[in-house]
Amino acid sequence: MNAFSTDWLALREPFDREARGAASGSFDLAGLAARLRGGDPALTVLDLGCGTGANLRVLAPRLGGVQRWTLADHDPRLLAALPGAMAPWCRTHGLSVVTGEGGLSFEGAGLKVEVEMLSCDLAQPFDAALFGCHRLITASALLDLVSAQWVDRLTRCARDAEAAVLFALSVDGSVEWRPALSGDEDVHRLFAAHQRRDKGFGPALAGDAVQVAAARLASLGYDVAHAASDWHIDGRDGAHSIVMLRAMIEGTAAAVQKQDPAFTSIEGWVARRLERIESTTLRVGHRDLLATLP
Ligand SMILES: C[S@@+](CC[C@H](N)C(=O)[O-])C[C@H]1O[C@@H](n2cnc3c(N)ncnc32)[C@H](O)[C@@H]1O
Repeated sequence: MNAFSTDWLALREPFDREARGAASGSFDLAGLAARLRGGDPALTVLDLGCGTGANLRVLAPRLGGVQRWTLADHDPRLLAALPGAMAPWCRTHGLSVVTGEGGLSFEGAGLKVEVEMLSCDLAQPFDAALFGCHRLITASALLDLVSAQWVDRLTRCARDAEAAVLFALSVDGSVEWRPALSGDEDVHRLFAAHQRRDKGFGPALAGDAVQVAAARLASLGYDVAHAASDWHIDGRDGAHSIVMLRAMIEGTAAAVQKQDPAFTSIEGWVARRLERIESTTLRVGHRDLLATLP
Protein backbone atom coordinates (compact mmCIF):
# COMPACT_ATOMS: atom_id res chain seq x y z
CA MET A 1 0.00 0.00 0.00
CA ASN A 2 1.18 3.49 -0.81
CA ALA A 3 0.67 5.07 2.63
CA PHE A 4 0.39 8.78 3.48
CA SER A 5 0.59 9.84 7.12
CA THR A 6 -1.92 12.16 8.78
CA ASP A 7 1.07 14.30 9.88
CA TRP A 8 2.25 14.77 6.29
CA LEU A 9 -1.26 15.65 5.06
CA ALA A 10 -1.66 18.17 7.90
CA LEU A 11 1.79 19.68 7.23
CA ARG A 12 1.14 20.23 3.53
CA GLU A 13 -2.47 21.44 3.88
CA PRO A 14 -1.73 25.20 4.34
CA PHE A 15 0.61 25.14 1.32
CA ASP A 16 -2.02 23.26 -0.70
CA ARG A 17 -4.66 25.80 0.33
CA GLU A 18 -2.53 28.78 -0.66
CA ALA A 19 -1.56 27.14 -3.97
CA ARG A 20 -5.18 26.39 -4.82
CA GLY A 21 -6.13 29.95 -3.87
CA ALA A 22 -3.77 31.16 -6.60
CA ALA A 23 -5.49 28.92 -9.18
CA SER A 24 -9.04 29.59 -8.00
CA GLY A 25 -9.46 32.80 -10.03
CA SER A 26 -9.38 30.65 -13.19
CA PHE A 27 -12.45 28.61 -12.24
CA ASP A 28 -15.97 29.87 -11.45
CA LEU A 29 -16.84 27.14 -8.95
CA ALA A 30 -20.03 28.76 -7.63
CA GLY A 31 -21.30 29.05 -11.23
CA LEU A 32 -20.24 25.46 -11.90
CA ALA A 33 -22.12 24.27 -8.80
CA ALA A 34 -25.31 26.06 -9.91
CA ARG A 35 -25.08 24.50 -13.38
CA LEU A 36 -24.33 21.00 -12.10
CA ARG A 37 -27.10 21.16 -9.50
CA GLY A 38 -29.69 21.92 -12.21
CA GLY A 39 -33.09 21.36 -10.60
CA ASP A 40 -31.71 19.18 -7.78
CA PRO A 41 -31.47 20.64 -4.28
CA ALA A 42 -28.04 19.12 -3.54
CA LEU A 43 -24.83 19.08 -5.55
CA THR A 44 -23.34 15.57 -5.39
CA VAL A 45 -19.53 15.31 -5.25
CA LEU A 46 -17.26 12.24 -5.28
CA ASP A 47 -13.75 12.85 -3.84
CA LEU A 48 -11.22 10.16 -4.81
CA GLY A 49 -8.27 9.53 -2.48
CA CYS A 50 -9.76 11.94 0.08
CA GLY A 51 -7.14 11.44 2.83
CA THR A 52 -8.36 13.43 5.85
CA GLY A 53 -10.68 15.64 3.76
CA ALA A 54 -8.48 18.56 2.63
CA ASN A 55 -10.20 18.76 -0.77
CA LEU A 56 -13.61 18.99 0.91
CA ARG A 57 -12.34 21.80 3.14
CA VAL A 58 -11.18 23.81 0.12
CA LEU A 59 -14.08 23.11 -2.23
CA ALA A 60 -17.20 23.09 -0.02
CA PRO A 61 -17.14 26.87 0.73
CA ARG A 62 -16.34 27.69 -2.90
CA LEU A 63 -19.15 25.53 -4.28
CA GLY A 64 -21.61 26.82 -1.65
CA GLY A 65 -25.23 25.83 -0.92
CA VAL A 66 -26.46 22.30 -0.32
CA GLN A 67 -23.95 19.53 -1.07
CA ARG A 68 -23.71 15.75 -0.62
CA TRP A 69 -20.19 14.34 -0.70
CA THR A 70 -18.83 10.81 -0.88
CA LEU A 71 -15.21 10.70 0.32
CA ALA A 72 -13.36 7.59 -0.85
CA ASP A 73 -10.00 6.26 0.29
CA HIS A 74 -8.39 2.86 0.87
CA ASP A 75 -6.55 3.86 4.04
CA PRO A 76 -8.68 3.23 7.16
CA ARG A 77 -6.33 5.36 9.33
CA LEU A 78 -6.99 8.43 7.20
CA LEU A 79 -10.76 7.87 7.10
CA ALA A 80 -10.76 7.43 10.89
CA ALA A 81 -8.85 10.73 11.29
CA LEU A 82 -11.19 12.64 8.97
CA PRO A 83 -13.85 13.73 11.53
CA GLY A 84 -11.04 14.95 13.83
CA ALA A 85 -9.62 17.07 10.99
CA MET A 86 -13.05 18.50 10.15
CA ALA A 87 -13.97 19.59 13.71
CA PRO A 88 -11.45 22.47 14.17
CA TRP A 89 -11.99 23.62 10.56
CA CYS A 90 -15.77 23.78 11.17
CA ARG A 91 -15.19 25.75 14.40
CA THR A 92 -12.92 28.26 12.61
CA HIS A 93 -15.50 28.73 9.86
CA GLY A 94 -18.45 29.11 12.26
CA LEU A 95 -20.06 25.87 11.07
CA SER A 96 -21.91 23.45 13.31
CA VAL A 97 -20.88 19.84 12.82
CA VAL A 98 -22.55 16.54 13.66
CA THR A 99 -20.51 13.33 13.42
CA GLY A 100 -22.30 10.02 12.90
CA GLU A 101 -21.49 6.46 11.92
CA GLY A 102 -19.61 6.45 8.59
CA GLY A 103 -20.03 10.15 7.98
CA LEU A 104 -20.73 13.65 9.23
CA SER A 105 -22.64 16.79 8.33
CA PHE A 106 -21.94 20.46 8.81
CA GLU A 107 -23.82 23.67 8.15
CA GLY A 108 -23.80 27.45 8.48
CA ALA A 109 -22.67 30.45 6.42
CA GLY A 110 -24.71 29.48 3.32
CA LEU A 111 -23.56 25.86 3.45
CA LYS A 112 -25.29 22.59 4.26
CA VAL A 113 -23.09 19.60 3.58
CA GLU A 114 -23.59 15.88 4.16
CA VAL A 115 -20.49 13.70 4.00
CA GLU A 116 -20.33 9.93 3.63
CA MET A 117 -16.98 8.14 4.00
CA LEU A 118 -16.30 5.16 1.77
CA SER A 119 -13.48 2.67 2.23
CA CYS A 120 -12.50 1.45 -1.23
CA ASP A 121 -9.47 0.56 -3.33
CA LEU A 122 -9.52 2.83 -6.38
CA ALA A 123 -6.97 0.64 -8.14
CA GLN A 124 -9.77 -1.95 -8.55
CA PRO A 125 -12.44 -1.73 -11.30
CA PHE A 126 -14.74 1.25 -10.69
CA ASP A 127 -18.29 0.90 -9.47
CA ALA A 128 -20.25 2.61 -12.30
CA ALA A 129 -23.27 3.06 -9.99
CA LEU A 130 -21.10 5.07 -7.54
CA PHE A 131 -19.87 7.39 -10.29
CA GLY A 132 -23.33 7.62 -11.87
CA CYS A 133 -24.87 9.31 -8.84
CA HIS A 134 -22.34 12.18 -8.61
CA ARG A 135 -22.31 15.38 -10.67
CA LEU A 136 -18.74 16.39 -9.81
CA ILE A 137 -15.83 13.96 -9.59
CA THR A 138 -12.78 15.40 -7.89
CA ALA A 139 -9.42 14.48 -6.39
CA SER A 140 -6.55 16.47 -4.95
CA ALA A 141 -2.92 15.34 -5.03
CA LEU A 142 -3.88 12.03 -6.62
CA LEU A 143 -3.61 12.38 -10.40
CA ASP A 144 0.21 12.34 -10.50
CA LEU A 145 0.20 8.98 -8.65
CA VAL A 146 -1.91 7.16 -11.23
CA SER A 147 -1.18 5.67 -14.66
CA ALA A 148 -2.41 6.65 -18.13
CA GLN A 149 -4.57 3.50 -18.15
CA TRP A 150 -6.21 4.57 -14.89
CA VAL A 151 -6.91 8.03 -16.33
CA ASP A 152 -8.53 6.36 -19.36
CA ARG A 153 -10.83 4.31 -17.11
CA LEU A 154 -11.65 7.24 -14.84
CA THR A 155 -12.40 9.71 -17.61
CA ARG A 156 -14.60 7.20 -19.47
CA CYS A 157 -16.52 6.57 -16.27
CA ALA A 158 -16.91 10.32 -15.67
CA ARG A 159 -18.10 10.83 -19.26
CA ASP A 160 -20.68 8.03 -18.93
CA ALA A 161 -21.93 9.71 -15.76
CA GLU A 162 -21.91 13.13 -17.55
CA ALA A 163 -20.02 14.47 -14.53
CA ALA A 164 -17.63 17.42 -14.37
CA VAL A 165 -14.06 16.60 -13.29
CA LEU A 166 -11.78 18.64 -11.03
CA PHE A 167 -8.24 17.40 -10.38
CA ALA A 168 -6.32 19.68 -8.01
CA LEU A 169 -2.63 19.81 -7.14
CA SER A 170 -0.99 17.51 -9.67
CA VAL A 171 2.77 18.02 -9.88
CA ASP A 172 4.03 19.38 -13.21
CA GLY A 173 7.59 18.07 -12.70
CA SER A 174 9.24 21.42 -11.96
CA VAL A 175 11.16 21.94 -8.71
CA GLU A 176 13.17 25.10 -8.01
CA TRP A 177 15.44 25.34 -4.97
CA ARG A 178 16.90 28.78 -4.15
CA PRO A 179 19.77 29.21 -3.60
CA ALA A 180 20.74 26.56 -6.14
CA LEU A 181 23.41 24.21 -4.71
CA SER A 182 25.72 21.64 -6.19
CA GLY A 183 23.99 18.28 -6.59
CA ASP A 184 20.52 19.77 -7.22
CA GLU A 185 20.37 18.51 -10.81
CA ASP A 186 21.40 14.91 -10.05
CA VAL A 187 19.04 14.80 -7.09
CA HIS A 188 16.16 16.16 -9.20
CA ARG A 189 16.80 13.62 -11.98
CA LEU A 190 16.61 10.69 -9.53
CA PHE A 191 13.65 12.20 -7.66
CA ALA A 192 11.73 12.63 -10.94
CA ALA A 193 12.46 9.01 -11.88
CA HIS A 194 11.15 7.90 -8.49
CA GLN A 195 7.93 9.88 -9.02
CA ARG A 196 7.22 7.69 -12.07
CA ARG A 197 7.37 4.42 -10.13
CA ASP A 198 4.20 2.40 -9.62
CA LYS A 199 2.17 3.82 -6.70
CA GLY A 200 -0.41 1.04 -6.93
CA PHE A 201 -2.09 2.13 -10.19
CA GLY A 202 0.58 1.15 -12.76
CA PRO A 203 3.48 3.43 -13.90
CA ALA A 204 2.77 6.86 -12.36
CA LEU A 205 2.16 9.83 -14.68
CA ALA A 206 4.02 12.22 -12.32
CA GLY A 207 4.71 15.52 -14.15
CA ASP A 208 2.73 14.44 -17.26
CA ALA A 209 -0.51 13.89 -15.35
CA VAL A 210 -2.37 17.09 -16.29
CA GLN A 211 -1.30 16.95 -19.93
CA VAL A 212 -2.46 13.33 -20.28
CA ALA A 213 -5.76 13.88 -18.44
CA ALA A 214 -6.48 17.11 -20.35
CA ALA A 215 -5.96 15.40 -23.73
CA ARG A 216 -8.09 12.43 -22.72
CA LEU A 217 -10.93 14.61 -21.37
CA ALA A 218 -10.86 16.85 -24.47
CA SER A 219 -11.12 13.76 -26.71
CA LEU A 220 -14.28 12.79 -24.80
CA GLY A 221 -15.88 16.17 -25.51
CA TYR A 222 -14.97 18.06 -22.32
CA ASP A 223 -13.99 21.73 -22.19
CA VAL A 224 -10.76 21.71 -20.23
CA ALA A 225 -9.11 24.55 -18.30
CA HIS A 226 -6.06 24.40 -16.09
CA ALA A 227 -4.09 26.82 -13.97
CA ALA A 228 -0.88 26.87 -11.93
CA SER A 229 -1.21 25.93 -8.25
CA ASP A 230 2.46 25.91 -7.25
CA TRP A 231 3.72 25.43 -3.72
CA HIS A 232 5.88 28.35 -2.57
CA ILE A 233 7.76 27.48 0.60
CA ASP A 234 9.98 30.16 2.11
CA GLY A 235 12.27 29.39 5.05
CA ARG A 236 12.01 33.05 6.19
CA ASP A 237 8.27 32.60 6.86
CA GLY A 238 8.82 30.86 10.20
CA ALA A 239 8.61 27.52 11.92
CA HIS A 240 5.91 25.84 9.80
CA SER A 241 7.77 26.60 6.58
CA ILE A 242 11.05 25.33 8.06
CA VAL A 243 9.35 22.07 9.07
CA MET A 244 7.92 21.76 5.56
CA LEU A 245 11.29 22.45 3.93
CA ARG A 246 12.95 19.86 6.18
CA ALA A 247 10.26 17.32 5.22
CA MET A 248 10.86 18.09 1.54
CA ILE A 249 14.64 17.69 1.90
CA GLU A 250 14.33 14.43 3.83
CA GLY A 251 11.52 13.12 1.61
CA THR A 252 13.52 13.91 -1.53
CA ALA A 253 16.57 12.15 -0.08
CA ALA A 254 14.53 9.05 0.85
CA ALA A 255 13.10 8.85 -2.69
CA VAL A 256 16.54 9.33 -4.25
CA GLN A 257 18.08 6.62 -2.07
CA LYS A 258 15.29 4.21 -3.03
CA GLN A 259 15.75 5.06 -6.71
CA ASP A 260 19.54 4.67 -6.67
CA PRO A 261 21.04 3.17 -3.49
CA ALA A 262 24.54 3.69 -5.00
CA PHE A 263 24.07 7.50 -5.11
CA THR A 264 26.03 8.22 -1.92
CA SER A 265 26.39 11.97 -2.60
CA ILE A 266 22.84 12.38 -1.30
CA GLU A 267 24.13 12.74 2.27
CA GLY A 268 26.25 15.74 1.30
CA TRP A 269 23.31 17.30 -0.53
CA VAL A 270 21.07 16.93 2.54
CA ALA A 271 23.75 18.48 4.78
CA ARG A 272 24.24 21.47 2.41
CA ARG A 273 20.46 22.00 2.12
CA LEU A 274 19.84 21.80 5.90
CA GLU A 275 22.70 24.22 6.61
CA ARG A 276 20.93 26.94 4.57
CA ILE A 277 17.35 25.99 5.36
CA GLU A 278 16.38 29.34 6.91
CA SER A 279 17.28 31.26 3.75
CA THR A 280 15.91 28.67 1.31
CA THR A 281 12.89 29.00 -0.94
CA LEU A 282 11.34 26.11 -2.81
CA ARG A 283 8.82 26.22 -5.62
CA VAL A 284 7.17 22.92 -6.52
CA GLY A 285 5.14 23.23 -9.72
CA HIS A 286 1.53 21.99 -9.60
CA ARG A 287 -1.57 22.47 -11.75
CA ASP A 288 -5.32 22.34 -11.10
CA LEU A 289 -7.54 21.08 -13.92
CA LEU A 290 -11.28 21.57 -14.42
CA ALA A 291 -13.17 19.74 -17.16
CA THR A 292 -16.83 20.44 -17.90
CA LEU A 293 -19.25 19.21 -20.52
CA PRO A 294 -20.65 21.95 -22.75
C1 LIG B 1 -1.27 12.64 -1.58
S1 LIG B 1 -2.60 11.95 -0.70
C2 LIG B 1 -3.86 13.18 -0.96
C3 LIG B 1 -4.92 13.15 0.09
C4 LIG B 1 -5.97 14.27 0.00
N1 LIG B 1 -6.68 14.22 -1.24
C5 LIG B 1 -5.30 15.62 0.18
O1 LIG B 1 -5.31 16.43 -0.76
O2 LIG B 1 -4.79 15.89 1.29
C6 LIG B 1 -3.16 10.63 -1.76
C7 LIG B 1 -4.37 9.90 -1.21
O3 LIG B 1 -4.73 8.84 -2.12
C8 LIG B 1 -5.07 7.71 -1.35
N2 LIG B 1 -4.87 6.51 -2.17
C9 LIG B 1 -3.69 6.07 -2.70
N3 LIG B 1 -3.89 4.91 -3.35
C10 LIG B 1 -5.22 4.62 -3.23
C11 LIG B 1 -6.05 3.55 -3.69
N4 LIG B 1 -5.54 2.52 -4.38
N5 LIG B 1 -7.37 3.57 -3.40
C12 LIG B 1 -7.89 4.60 -2.67
N6 LIG B 1 -7.17 5.63 -2.21
C13 LIG B 1 -5.85 5.64 -2.49
C14 LIG B 1 -4.14 7.76 -0.15
O4 LIG B 1 -4.59 6.96 0.92
C15 LIG B 1 -4.14 9.25 0.15
O5 LIG B 1 -5.18 9.60 1.00
